[in-house]
Amino acid sequence: FYSKTMAKPSVYLTRRINQEALDVLQQTCDVSIWPEPDPVPRQELLKNIKGKSGLFCMLTDRIDSEILDAAGSNLKIVATMSVGYDHLDVNEIKRRGIKMAYTPDILTDATAELAVALLLATSRRLLEANEEAKSGGWKAWSPFWMCGPGLKNSTVGIVGFGRIGQEIAKRLKSFGPSKIIYYNRSEKAKEAADIGAIRVSFDELLSQSDFISVSCALTPETKEMFNEQAFKKMKKSAVFVNTSRGGVVDQDALVTALQNKIIWGAGLDVMTPEPLPLDNPLFKLKNCVILPHIGSAALETRNNMAILTAKNIVAALKNEPVLTELNV
Ligand code: DGY
Repeated sequence: FYSKTMAKPSVYLTRRINQEALDVLQQTCDVSIWPEPDPVPRQELLKNIKGKSGLFCMLTDRIDSEILDAAGSNLKIVATMSVGYDHLDVNEIKRRGIKMAYTPDILTDATAELAVALLLATSRRLLEANEEAKSGGWKAWSPFWMCGPGLKNSTVGIVGFGRIGQEIAKRLKSFGPSKIIYYNRSEKAKEAADIGAIRVSFDELLSQSDFISVSCALTPETKEMFNEQAFKKMKKSAVFVNTSRGGVVDQDALVTALQNKIIWGAGLDVMTPEPLPLDNPLFKLKNCVILPHIGSAALETRNNMAILTAKNIVAALKNEPVLTELNV
């Protein structure tokens, strides 16, 4: 789409990616990459984005007016290798007529799988049990040692009944809960009927659920929706699992709820900040399972996320329809 004499559009990548995705970009673009495994430092990003036509970024990069100013008027597309986009100042990007792309759908299954794994790891105390086995705490089989709540006949509550929430519900259904309830801004009647899930208010979900799995986006409305009052409304036996964004939880309130056994346990794939500092009280709690934001970390999934992000950039720079444009 560019003749040999025309300069290729330039794209900045904030992290090294798989060769296949890189090939997609390099066929038509001049690509420069932050070469280190850690996130690109802000100053480096500000320096390297200058004059670029496309930005391939991650959820660890905050893209706001300062970055856009540094980029200048060439920038046509900001494509994030994630389904979450709370790190993008969407209003500012839109206002400047820059396109946005993200990676919905292709990570749904991987994230739902991880949510189920995390829920079971938390309820059945897998990490704690493994620690006991390794450290000599396992003296003999014991009738009530390392017990936790089972899913059979339980009430499962899903907060955020979008693509990922629905897939979590479908998977959990196979464990035989008596009821699946959900809280979602829109009704999702058809999807709910297919799964056999019932829409309830947020308060009803909090008070009825044995397991609460969170899969909503972080927005001004959902920010810290799990606060002290919310944890107090939950059952003492409740297992709380978050695979969305740490910002939906008032983390100090969660620490208090776990320390004082206001709820039974929590499984977190996301928290504030990330990475969680090693001296954070959550790490000291046996009833808290912490994972380092690996929801979508199935190999195929991550490969496909990078390829899709690359294709989105190429499409935008060719003035073709972006495959998964973010229209908000
Ligand atoms: C996302 O895509 O937003 C996840 O948090 C990481 O894959």
